[in-house]
Amino acid sequence: MCGIVGYIGEQDSKEILLRGLEKLEYRGYDSAGIAVLNHNGVHVFKEKGRIAVLREIVDASVSAPIGIGHTRWATHGVPSKVNAHPHQSSTKRFTLVHNGVIENYNHLKRDYLQSVHFESETDTEVIVQLIEQFVDKGLEVESAFRETLKLLKGSYALGLLDNQDQDTIYVAKNKSPLLIGLGKGFNVVASDAMAMLQVTDQYVELMDKETVIVKKDSVTIKNLEGTVIERAPYTAELDASDIEKGTYPHYMLKEIDEQPAVVRKIIGNYRNENGELTVDSDIRQAMIGADRIYIIAAGTSYHAGLVGKQYIEKLANVPVEVHISSEFSYNMPLLSEKPLFIFISQSGETADSRAVLVQIKEMGYKALTITNVQGSTLSREADYTLLLHAGPEIAVASTKAYTAQIAVLAILARDTARAKGIDIDFDLSQELGIVASAMETLVDAKEEMEQIARDYLSTTRNCFFIGRGIDYYVGMEGALKLKEISYIQAEGFAGGELKHGTIALIEDGTPIIALATQENVNLGIRGNVKEVVARGANPCIISMKGLNEEDDRYVIPTVHELFTPLVSVIPVQLISYYAALHRECDVDKPRNLAKSVTVE
Ligand code: G6P
Repeated sequence: MCGIVGYIGEQDSKEILLRGLEKLEYRGYDSAGIAVLNHNGVHVFKEKGRIAVLREIVDASVSAPIGIGHTRWATHGVPSKVNAHPHQSSTKRFTLVHNGVIENYNHLKRDYLQSVHFESETDTEVIVQLIEQFVDKGLEVESAFRETLKLLKGSYALGLLDNQDQDTIYVAKNKSPLLIGLGKGFNVVASDAMAMLQVTDQYVELMDKETVIVKKDSVTIKNLEGTVIERAPYTAELDASDIEKGTYPHYMLKEIDEQPAVVRKIIGNYRNENGELTVDSDIRQAMIGADRIYIIAAGTSYHAGLVGKQYIEKLANVPVEVHISSEFSYNMPLLSEKPLFIFISQSGETADSRAVLVQIKEMGYKALTITNVQGSTLSREADYTLLLHAGPEIAVASTKAYTAQIAVLAILARDTARAKGIDIDFDLSQELGIVASAMETLVDAKEEMEQIARDYLSTTRNCFFIGRGIDYYVGMEGALKLKEISYIQAEGFAGGELKHGTIALIEDGTPIIALATQENVNLGIRGNVKEVVARGANPCIISMKGLNEEDDRYVIPTVHELFTPLVSVIPVQLISYYAALHRECDVDKPRNLAKSVTVE
């Protein structure tokens, strides 16, 4: 994970770097640092903790027109000042920031750097020491940089300063995301365009194993052999206001509230001239040509995939398997003859999913990525992309991306059914419109949800979510939301499965959040609730109008039964939000997590 930034120009770089890092904190936030270079040499400021802590220790009197910065999610070595980036070579001539993991760093230490004293426990320090060693042997810095990269196994996005050269930032990328932002009289480097939107909306993408010589007036991309590569910039279509909290106390609350608008935007973006919701014809053809779909995803996206399976199987009659990406790559099931892979990823950067994409591309299979980030790695490397149009999602706990993923999967399933000549007895556009209105009612039910969080979750150690069928999947997502941000131990179970073991954990007052939105299992789930109530559980039933009973705690408006997850997830998102708030947790940046998980 981790986020990196760089600036070279004429202004003082400190504030630009710090503001950039603040926008990248979603990528990791256990320590941070910047290095700036001026005629007095390089100045490094780093500290354990958030960017706010770093801000306090940066010496305001140092002014420098070139600098690099880093916000860290620890992989090698605990979060600490000494393990925080930037890292420096022994003589302190070279200073480096790195996002990624160098898998062979121990071998490199042993084979090339036995006499070098290492300050930190990081894999990164190996890189900067190797560069210095190549320079000591007489190589030019640029060649030393390339020779070092040739030795590295793993992922990296790098920014390097040489304190004998105030005109250059050396940059390289492999598997970790990195962009160069272009300005007039300055250029910038960033893991994500969001970080540098403050100074430019013009960006150049980098491909794996490319290096870049960034100067204030020029950007030269080369491959590892040193051949120059020409690439046109693109305009980042991000609105600066999308990445601000505005009047909201947290991004998560803002993003929960945005869900009705996102669903409406998806309807608008996928509607054709006949008013039908469709995908590109080449995607439709790939869907029709597949004898089985393999959905690959992690975290919340995996939960959206489970709902998507229902849509594709029920509407389009194509069998679907849903797999957790980190499991799939090492434990691949027997594949069908004509598989199609669908990668679901908010960020489009999740390393576990990317590892599977690389594998299945090598096997010659086609892939579709459903993502929120245009130009992300999973999008670039797949054959087809469907965008979520959800706008930047910044809170670590995913909310609007989940509902957007489900809406897009519904459109994909519906369109495949149309192409296969399968009759569907509802108008998807109309049903999603009803969903968007129901979502509006739910995002306005904040007081009720806050009260539920108070009544059920203020002192509890654990909480179980139960449901059957599609409600079970929403329960899994509810449990993930709650544990991620409030640290209450939470699990989602199939209603009928609880009694096969987990019911042993039910004590007096254990909260059970039960979802009851499906007619065919309504009696079943209510029976399961009775089983746990008989053992002392405190039930909170969230049902759908028409299926509700007297003691249900909250009743959601009626929507088509296939699309209830889009609506029933909102109460569990809000309940989780308030539970975390009441426990004074950092809602947007929960401990130990990061939003974009770019390490396997
Ligand atoms: C991380 C985030 C989760 C997210 C998961 C998958 O674990 O904290 O919120 O669901 O990654 O991310 P993706 O970007 O692939 O959807």
